[in-house]
Amino acid sequence: MKTSCQRPPSIPIILATILFSISSANSKQVNLHMFFQCLSNNSSPFHQVSQTIYTPNNASFLSVLNSYIKNRRFLTSTTPKPLAIIAAKHISHIQATVICAQRYGLEIRIRSGGHDSEGLSYVSNNPFLVLDMFNFRALLIDIASETARVQAGATLGEVYYRISEKSKVHAFPAGVCPTVGTGGHFSGGGYGNLMRKYGLSVDNIIDAQIVTVNGSILDRKSMGEDVFWAIRGGGGASFGVIISWTIKLVRVPSIVTVFHITRTLEQNATDVVYRWQEVAHNLPKELFIRAILQAVDGSQEGKKTMQLVHFFGQFLGKSESLLPLMNVRFPELGLQQHDCKEMTWIESTLFWALFPTGTPTASLLVRPSKVNATSFITKSDYVKEPIPKTGLESIWKVLIKIGRNGWIQLNPYGGRMSEISASETPFPHRAGNIFKIEYYVEWVEEGTEATNHYRNLARTLYKVMRPYVSNSPREAFLNYRDLDIGITSSRHNRTILIKSARVYGCKYFKGNLDRLMRAKASIDPSNFFKNEQSIPPAGH
Ligand SMILES: Cc1cc2nc3c(=O)[nH]c(=O)nc-3n(C[C@H](O)[C@H](O)[C@H](O)COP(=O)(O)OP(=O)(O)OC[C@H]3O[C@@H](n4cnc5c(N)ncnc54)[C@H](O)[C@@H]3O)c2cc1C
Ligand SMILES: *[C@@H]1O[C@H](CO)[C@@H](O)[C@H](O)[C@H]1NC(C)=O
Ligand SMILES: *[C@@H]1O[C@H](CO)[C@@H](O)[C@H](O)[C@H]1NC(C)=O
Ligand SMILES: *[C@@H]1O[C@H](CO)[C@@H](O)[C@H](O)[C@H]1NC(C)=O
Ligand SMILES: *[C@@H]1O[C@H](CO)[C@@H](O)[C@H](O)[C@H]1NC(C)=O
Ligand SMILES: *[C@@H]1O[C@H](CO)[C@@H](O)[C@H](O)[C@H]1NC(C)=O
Ligand SMILES: *[C@@H]1O[C@H](CO)[C@@H](O)[C@H](O)[C@H]1NC(C)=O
Repeated sequence: MKTSCQRPPSIPIILATILFSISSANSKQVNLHMFFQCLSNNSSPFHQVSQTIYTPNNASFLSVLNSYIKNRRFLTSTTPKPLAIIAAKHISHIQATVICAQRYGLEIRIRSGGHDSEGLSYVSNNPFLVLDMFNFRALLIDIASETARVQAGATLGEVYYRISEKSKVHAFPAGVCPTVGTGGHFSGGGYGNLMRKYGLSVDNIIDAQIVTVNGSILDRKSMGEDVFWAIRGGGGASFGVIISWTIKLVRVPSIVTVFHITRTLEQNATDVVYRWQEVAHNLPKELFIRAILQAVDGSQEGKKTMQLVHFFGQFLGKSESLLPLMNVRFPELGLQQHDCKEMTWIESTLFWALFPTGTPTASLLVRPSKVNATSFITKSDYVKEPIPKTGLESIWKVLIKIGRNGWIQLNPYGGRMSEISASETPFPHRAGNIFKIEYYVEWVEEGTEATNHYRNLARTLYKVMRPYVSNSPREAFLNYRDLDIGITSSRHNRTILIKSARVYGCKYFKGNLDRLMRAKASIDPSNFFKNEQSIPPAGH
């Protein structure tokens, strides 16, 4: 089959062709009743499945549903709700959910940490169930073999904390937000500040356990290399239920150095960012410097707005080595000794998560007890050439309109990222990219008017950036889920399904899309595991 990743396919994205299943409320109830019976019949008798089922009749239904909804956009009364939540406690509950949902024609959504930007782990327009993985959170750290077994419902904070209990010189390369779940994060790639030294999370996964469409439990050996390849970056939700990962720990020095420097426009922020684009991806692998551009209210400084660039850095070593390096390679930033904070790696994870200095590391274990999410939209881009200063100025114009409600985050590539081939995992954005952009727009106002307002701002920003970023395809990062870049438009006509999946699939996976579709055909030919941006099975 020929790939069409170089050119955008000719059909337009047909939005709003989401198919509603026209079953009556009655047959839905019958199916649900049978589903519960089936669930009970197929679950281990020693692990009461009824204790894991929440329907709207259970008083705690909404609190269980909402506690892992990270995006306020999907916390409204009109957000489609699942018929039931199965918060599996035993692997047989997962197997039974998959088998019985198919038998009774119900869709499932799998949720680990609930951070999906578009809520795909807990919202669907079809009658659906949420298979919730938050009880599957065991972690087994083995320093002797430098590996760990991590269940999918464990959070990144738990992974980091449990590693640090056993060793001060081991770590794992993954994201900065401690509440993100490993189920979604690892299967979507997973990047963080160790990326330039060690690559993505998926580059350090050596085994996995999944439940497949027919309820079997497979590991790397039994699922085969294609499927094992696919779940490391292709998104777990297309292939099965990830139960656990086996990860390879990486080594870090006992002391690392972090810094956070801010530059305003008056302090030549634009020039420094311009220079950052040339420098950051070429620095030694041990050094990661992220830049965040934001326009904030400047009334305290007697100005309407203040344009700021935050530089967050991490060096795998002490400041006495970092300072001379920065003096030679990036003097424009003007890093000083007093900007540098030396700490253990586990303390650095708190710094990156913006906890106040001195926060106990056990805060990494805190799961949300109260719902207080903001509404947000994420988008992403990849950059191959420095954005000219005129381009940076047009970005500022939009950022000023967005104000405190958004920012763009630039994450440098290079280092280990350039050494791994684009087809090693489904994540294709390797050599040739100097940095990745995350666009983030958030708000607290309720209602569709606010949503439309901020969505338009996010879209404007994305549009303004077009001349400066990758094209044909305009690449995107799966973990910054964005339904604007395409959705599956028909589940019944295979040709249309595959064509529409190519629209977003080429952006997320480039030339790896075809292998993903073949892996999908081998593990889930009937396309039971699906969502608005899943991988369809390859045609014959
Ligand atoms: C505040 C915040 C900070 C973030 N920081 C980073 C970062 O630093 N680096 C980065 O790479 N990303 C980051 N992300 C993005 C994040 O990695 C993705 O949203 C990721 O998919 C979240 O995983 P989750 O398990 O929490 O989400 P979920 O919403 O539970 O799942 C996301 C997707 O994965 C599927 N899925 C979840 N669990 C399973 C499973 N067990 N088996 C099969 N499929 C499953 C879901 O169905 C859904 O499609 C951030 C997001 C937020 C909101
Ligand atoms: C569950 O098992 C009982 C007892 O064997 C049986 O009568 C019933 O039909 C089964 N239900 C389903 C939905 O499989
Ligand atoms: C939800 O309610 C049902 C019916 O009363 C009950 O069997 C089940 O155990 C409840 N779920 C939980 C998690 O308590
Ligand atoms: C389930 O699927 C796996 C892998 O696709 C296959 O090896 C196994 O035989 C199947 N089991 C059943 C019971 O169909
Ligand atoms: C900004 O750039 C100008 C001109 O290059 C220079 O004179 C000035 O010192 C710089 N300001 C800062 C704060 O670096
Ligand atoms: C919840 O969010 C609101 C609005 O953003 C904020 O004012 C409040 O302090 C937050 N509460 C907690 C407990 O974080
Ligand atoms: C599916 O859609 C394609 C493209 O619109 C069309 O040519 C084809 O006939 C359709 N197939 C079926 C089975 O309806």
